[in-house]
Amino acid sequence: MVFIRVIFGDSRRMIELSDNSVHLVVTSPPYYNAPFDFPGLFKSYDEFLELLRNVGREIYRVLSPGRVACFVTQDVRIDGVLYPIVPDLIRIMLSLGFEYQERIIWRKPEGYIRISRRSGVLIQHPYPMYYYPDNIYEEIVIFRKPGEFDRKKIPQAVVEKSKIDIGRFQREKWYLSVWDITNVLPSEKWSKYTAVFPEELVERLIYLYSYWRETVLDPFLGTGTTCAVARRLQRNCVGYEIDVELKDAIEERIGGTKTLVSFLEGEEDRVEFIVRDDARKLRTKLREEIDRMLQERKKSKEKV
Ligand SMILES: C[S@@+](CC[C@H](N)C(=O)[O-])C[C@H]1O[C@@H](n2cnc3c(N)ncnc32)[C@H](O)[C@@H]1O
Repeated sequence: MVFIRVIFGDSRRMIELSDNSVHLVVTSPPYYNAPFDFPGLFKSYDEFLELLRNVGREIYRVLSPGRVACFVTQDVRIDGVLYPIVPDLIRIMLSLGFEYQERIIWRKPEGYIRISRRSGVLIQHPYPMYYYPDNIYEEIVIFRKPGEFDRKKIPQAVVEKSKIDIGRFQREKWYLSVWDITNVLPSEKWSKYTAVFPEELVERLIYLYSYWRETVLDPFLGTGTTCAVARRLQRNCVGYEIDVELKDAIEERIGGTKTLVSFLEGEEDRVEFIVRDDARKLRTKLREEIDRMLQERKKSKEKV
């Protein structure tokens, strides 16, 4: 059986977790004040970086030595200004003591982009200095907490159950530092809540960096993708999400208290939800702000 815990509260304080108790972190922080997800969530870029620093510090405390934290993110452009989220994240994590281990490009299919197209400008003005490419990738930045990872300490039966499918590794080209994975489209169910990452991406990271029944943490759980995949792959999972308005969506994604695997083994998974005092109600407010921005855009287009 696995234990899935969802805690509604601020992941700058992960008091429910003891030191060195987590084996893998898979997460995607908010994209600063990205216009179609988090408009106005942070007062300033520095406040956003401070969040990364404080959550990063907690991740360092709870992660087992020798294990990794994977961040799915990308620089973000707001009102024409490009914010260097990836380099700033790397700088912050290094300053906390992590080692910089890997940087993988997650390439999305052409034509599936969520944000507005920029490349049309050059078609209108086919001259130098009008080049604005459409962004079709994000980065998976992987940090390692120093210390030794010793496979010999893991029981042989667990090692066997965690064996990676080499056929799939070859077929799907996991061996490359560029991963081609279709993103979750805006039309898909969970997308209406936030920028959801694809299950396929989380699945690869869990298979590649954790053993059967170990514990995965996502400090920015969103709609619950990490916990849903962890449960399916029989890993324990702890997710922190500040917005309690996502509770129903997360509950639906994670599913009931039993899985097929557990049925076969005659065991039940445990799923627990905790709502702390510091949980907030964000989504309705953010939606209103997004709708207001879309209306303004529409009006300014009508004027032109
Ligand atoms: C980019 S979304 C994560 C999406 C997620 N990967 C998924 O597939 O649904 C980031 C999430 O972090 C949450 N968040 C922001 N600040 C937080 C904090 N201090 N503690 C916990 N969660 C936070 C936001 O509410 C949002 O749901």
